[in-house]
Amino acid sequence: MQAFKAFRVHTIDGKAVCKFETLTLDDIDPGPVLIRTAYSAITYKDAMAARGVGRNVRTERPCVTGVDLSGEVVSSADERFKPGDKVAVTNYKLGTEHDGAYAEYARVPADWIVPLPDGLSLFEAMGLGTSGLTAALAIDRLEKAGLAPGDGPVAVSGASGGVGSLAVDMLAGKGYEVVAISGKPEQTDFLQSIGAARVMHRDTLYGNTSSMVSGPPFAAALDNVGGRMLDRLLAHTMPHGKVAIAGMVEVDLQSTVLPFVLRSVDVLGINVSRQLKMPERQRLWQRMATDLKPSHLDAIARPIAFEELDSRMDAFFNVSTVGRVVVQVGAGQPAR
Ligand SMILES: NC(=O)c1ccc[n+]([C@@H]2O[C@H](COP(=O)([O-])OP(=O)(O)OC[C@H]3O[C@@H](n4cnc5c(N)ncnc54)[C@H](OP(=O)(O)O)[C@@H]3O)[C@@H](O)[C@H]2O)c1
Repeated sequence: MQAFKAFRVHTIDGKAVCKFETLTLDDIDPGPVLIRTAYSAITYKDAMAARGVGRNVRTERPCVTGVDLSGEVVSSADERFKPGDKVAVTNYKLGTEHDGAYAEYARVPADWIVPLPDGLSLFEAMGLGTSGLTAALAIDRLEKAGLAPGDGPVAVSGASGGVGSLAVDMLAGKGYEVVAISGKPEQTDFLQSIGAARVMHRDTLYGNTSSMVSGPPFAAALDNVGGRMLDRLLAHTMPHGKVAIAGMVEVDLQSTVLPFVLRSVDVLGINVSRQLKMPERQRLWQRMATDLKPSHLDAIARPIAFEELDSRMDAFFNVSTVGRVVVQVGAGQPAR
């Protein structure tokens, strides 16, 4: 039986220990669709799983982690897929309760799989992945709530991160005036190069306890942070503005009801976990391949070799990661 490389987390005496191993198909969770993984990515959730932070890996068995994958179908017992189909899987139980993306092969339920739309390569699919889906869902919901280009500035917090940088690019591509809020002044040029009209240091927002900071209030915001950031964004959103909440870097929220009862601000919750239904997921992937396709994906999606995976996890805890880290899992895949 063919052997392949995988990155697995073992829970030993309550601690996470991760390592590269050689496995065969018999070692990974069963599923009707066998996929040869081309690319994956690293998200905060993957870093937590690798380092045993929180309870992301919900199995005591060794688990191949990696919550995002793109690849080609090798075989399928489900008639919706055939060998050679290009596909993507994000979230569900992948990489947490079911062996995931950090292996050259994965076997998954057909219900988790999105056929890759025309216009996206396997590399681009992972340049987007969970982060792209989050940004796309937020923009889609903001638009459905009535947001249109020309309404005023749209703030994106955590702007240098995966969701943030993709959202900056997507919104700018749709003609919005994007204010990128970041704690990394050294990324100002990068954020402007992907479409930010203005870059604001997050301390400018935190330090200002009046309702206004310099510049006009925001017509809308996509918050990738939570906590204090969300409170400040709500305070700085114009009447009838909209705030999409995706981030949970800070979970506790202390705010007032004033943005809602005095300025009619709408709050939109964003969740791309398994709760996001497949037809909606496919529609958003279609948008990511067309009108929401980032123009600067080459700059945002930064490829690394599979072997570098372990050494790149800790950057997610010291907040030094910029954009999306795309992992070249499949042997023979081009770097992009
Ligand atoms: N709702 C959903 O379905 C969903 C899906 C995916 C991700 N998420 C969440 O969305 C958030 C962003 O995800 P991501 O993949 O973009 O993560 P990421 O790449 O790690 O980016 C997070 C960004 O947040 C900012 N940040 C980090 N620590 C901070 C702190 N202590 N205070 C203020 N800002 C801080 C940083 O940006 P700057 O340095 O530029 O400020 C960082 O780059 C995470 O909380 C993640 O868990 C939610």
